[in-house]
Amino acid sequence: MYYPEELVEEVRMRSDIVDVISSYVKLQKRGGTYFGLCPFHNEKTPSFSVTPSKQMYYCFGCGAGGNVFTFLMEYENLTFPEAVRQLADRAGVELPQEEESEEARKRASRRARILEANKEAGRYFYYQMKGPGGKRAYEYLTGRGLTDETIRRFGLGYSNAYRDDLYQYLKHRGYDDELLKETGLVKIEERGCHDRFWNRVMFPIMDVNGKIIGFGGRVMGDGEPKYLNSPETKVFDKSRNLYGLNYARIWRKPYMLICEGYMDVIAMQQAGFTGAVASLGTAFTSGQASLLRRYTSQVILTYDSDGAGVRAALRAIPILKEAGLSAKVLDLKPYKDPDEFIKNMGAEAFEERIENAVNSFLFEIDVLYRQYDMKDPEQKTAFYNETARKLLQFPEKLERDNYTEAVARRYGIEYEALRSLVNRLGGRMGFEERKPEEPRPPREKKDKEDGIRQSERLLLTWLVEENRAYPAVKGIIGPDDFTEPLYKRAASMVFEGLEAGSLSPADILNHFINDEEEYKEVARLFNTSLTELTKEEREKAFSETAKRVKKHSLDVKSRNVTDISALQELIKEQASLSRLHISLN
Ligand code: UTP
Ligand code: MN
Repeated sequence: MYYPEELVEEVRMRSDIVDVISSYVKLQKRGGTYFGLCPFHNEKTPSFSVTPSKQMYYCFGCGAGGNVFTFLMEYENLTFPEAVRQLADRAGVELPQEEESEEARKRASRRARILEANKEAGRYFYYQMKGPGGKRAYEYLTGRGLTDETIRRFGLGYSNAYRDDLYQYLKHRGYDDELLKETGLVKIEERGCHDRFWNRVMFPIMDVNGKIIGFGGRVMGDGEPKYLNSPETKVFDKSRNLYGLNYARIWRKPYMLICEGYMDVIAMQQAGFTGAVASLGTAFTSGQASLLRRYTSQVILTYDSDGAGVRAALRAIPILKEAGLSAKVLDLKPYKDPDEFIKNMGAEAFEERIENAVNSFLFEIDVLYRQYDMKDPEQKTAFYNETARKLLQFPEKLERDNYTEAVARRYGIEYEALRSLVNRLGGRMGFEERKPEEPRPPREKKDKEDGIRQSERLLLTWLVEENRAYPAVKGIIGPDDFTEPLYKRAASMVFEGLEAGSLSPADILNHFINDEEEYKEVARLFNTSLTELTKEEREKAFSETAKRVKKHSLDVKSRNVTDISALQELIKEQASLSRLHISLN
């Protein structure tokens, strides 16, 4: 969907960046700027800044920066039109309805209809449980320690023991067989129709927005299968949803908890750990990892403490890492799962286990350790070798050394010995420590160009940051004097804005949104801090920077000029350069 520029601009103007970012990041005002902990990298002291006057954010730590649209795009993983829509909604700006193809509209309305049927089914199950026929289900749930509030919050219910009760109910509410089949709630066979779920307690599965996309149903007591789940449907993609995420997404802590089961999520959330989610009766997928990455950068695995749980954790760790999430593993022993742990030990003890959760790499080494008999010298050596090999997965020396040290301490291995084993193995595997590089032949030209780039960049930053800069260069320097194409484009917008007296860096940035590299570069341009310089240094630096930009521009022009009178003009300009007075005062 393409929105006209004026409309995008209106949405941006009505969406104050401090307001918007405040609902995601705790900000504190210092001078004219707000600071907080950067949501895009891990840090302990705030280097993330939001500047109301520019309507931009910038992190001095990791270089993330942009305007209110890109903040949402990065934080919530949205496309540009999605970010525009979300902010328009928030600001009450009306956007034109999307022109959809007949096909797309049909598909959307079909999905909506399935979601509606699911919602009605959820309500139906809930009231079944509250009614006299649902007494056993209700007692089953409360017997497992769930409060009425929790039952309501998760919309738990009961599917009764009649073979087609839900089918009849939904049919009377106007849903036809074809659609009901698509919900996965009923099976339509030659012999007739019947409900999928029969005499079970029901767990509605919600997407991140709280829409019911499927169900899980548990037998009360023993029976096979223990849980029956909805099949995948048009609205239910098991690999891209997580149970509990609709609540976990607004949890305030910097990590989330992943577990195996519905009851584990519910027990943790009831105990106050509302950042708990579970995959849906299947192995953890990369789709789920990138979904989580929208909301957190750190996860704590709370899988069952049995062999299957350990294997599931070992499988999930690389998937999490791949998605850029750091992982820790929580020890539940002697209990089987979070539900049992919390029931027996309570929330405080669980909190303690969270604090003691072990880094995922050390967890992997722990699992390895248990496979060797450390009393046997041969096996012990094999363990050390295998550990060293695993340490080599860290390509950065510093990180590798840190892990080597942690492992050495944990298993009482001599640090230097382990480190040299790692290095020796690394060497053999062609993974040598890089030798210091030969001094490079001087590359003067390149350096000079970098210098010019830097001057052009600095001058642009100045024009955006400092009110006195534009009058100082006006008539002397213009957008054409910028030789780097990207800066020239940015400069023409900056000059235009300054001339009109309505410079808006956040809008200018929108013009670069389609190219990530350019975008980052321009964002950096508008956010470099000039405050480290003293007043005198600033005067001098400004005038030198401006002159360097002008001189380079004239040099380039005179190299390319073909017409004699133009050349003469340029030579005159070059000669007058030394007398040129560009100053902030
Ligand atoms: P568990 O067997 O560990 O169940 O399966 P649980 O979560 O401890 O359940 P309770 O406490 O006995 O009620 C973990 C998850 O695997 C899926 C379900 O999502 C379950 O929550 N599962 C399990 C199924 O889909 N089908 C099954 O038959 C069993
Ligand atoms: Mn359980």
